Amino acid sequence: MGSLVNKRILLGVTGGIAAYKSADLVRRLREAGAEVRVVMTDAATEFITELTLQAVSGYPVHRHLLDPEAEAGMSHIELARWADAILVAPATADFLARLVQGRGDDLLATLCLATSAPMAVAPAMNQQMWRHPATQQNVDSLRHRGVQIFGPGEGSQACGDVGPGRLLEPAELAQLTAGLFQTGVLDGVTVMVTAGPTWEAIDPVRGLTNKSSGKMGYAIATAAAEGGARVILISGPVSLTPPDRVETVPVVSAQDMFDAVHARIDQIDLYIGVAAVADYRPVSVAPHKLKKTADSMNLELVRNPDILASVAALPSAPFTVGFAAETNDLEMAARHKLEAKRIDLVCANLVGGDEGGFGADENRLLLVDREGTTELPLAAKSRLARDLIHHISRKFHAKNRTQDTRRAHRR
Ligand code: C5P
Repeated sequence: MGSLVNKRILLGVTGGIAAYKSADLVRRLREAGAEVRVVMTDAATEFITELTLQAVSGYPVHRHLLDPEAEAGMSHIELARWADAILVAPATADFLARLVQGRGDDLLATLCLATSAPMAVAPAMNQQMWRHPATQQNVDSLRHRGVQIFGPGEGSQACGDVGPGRLLEPAELAQLTAGLFQTGVLDGVTVMVTAGPTWEAIDPVRGLTNKSSGKMGYAIATAAAEGGARVILISGPVSLTPPDRVETVPVVSAQDMFDAVHARIDQIDLYIGVAAVADYRPVSVAPHKLKKTADSMNLELVRNPDILASVAALPSAPFTVGFAAETNDLEMAARHKLEAKRIDLVCANLVGGDEGGFGADENRLLLVDREGTTELPLAAKSRLARDLIHHISRKFHAKNRTQDTRRAHRR
């Protein structure tokens, strides 16, 4: 079962009589843990007020494209980027037609063009309009494009007809929306993710660490679990709640992380090293708190093992993915890391600038492997993690297919 906890749902409401159910739908989505922003078409406001949907969602409703005030707050592009998923409920026959045409003449249609988030529509209309070949063709073409079609249900209609075209009930729509995040791209695969910083003790109260928050690693572990994987998360010290449906193993130092990884590596098909592992640790840990007696002191450090490289070097290594946080020459540094560590894929991001990276809620990534590069544009880490898991799953399955073919040829 998918989950809506912490998911950002953009709900589009178009102009049909079933729009009165949208208020209940917002409530159900929020009860399931989602943050909801509502976009209404002009026609929708004939059936339900903006004020009602503002009250139940807790946010002002978005109505107009290129409204200077709204654009100054959250522009249509930011809104499209904000959404983890878009649900249009109810979706009228007219809206389905406009979606098929790729129109950009109102806010909702433009958002649907400007997003890469998963999308679903819940059609609601008179049964004859639903059965019309024009509507059926539109629905087919949306389905073909990957848009999920929720319903419609059958039964008595507001116009007195009986047949297909009723909006599904809000509780069912909320459940189906949660299912949008259940992609199945990693069904049956066991994934290990390392996350957060490590802490290299100097004495009982001091240590060497870094600014990694663990957010990216935790988001990737969550996205892998949503993809159907069994996930083991080896986490350095962070202040995040362990994700649902993920086996989380807390560790402190790089050596602890190395041991925890190798104790379980035989079970792993796919390894994603997101942790910011300290390169060095103090040669020895003082048993008592060090006193400030001298004017200066030297701390002797020794190299930590490279966990990612050690996993990639195993005779039956899993598919290995590493991260590279760089301040410049992103692609060159990533290519160097790909070869130096003999891994399958490097996810590189710029750090030290104004956006993304350590601690931030957003990030952008350059994915580098032996076939080329792919850019994942700036997005919330949760959304970026989902796109990354999609990319990794394609590469992972492609490599397994090639290896299976080679094995078959050798036989
Ligand atoms: O070499 P560098 O630290 O830049 O490489 C970063 C990548 O290597 C990350 O995926 C990180 O998790 C991994 N790494 C590791 N063990 C280390 C250092 C880095 O697994 N000691």
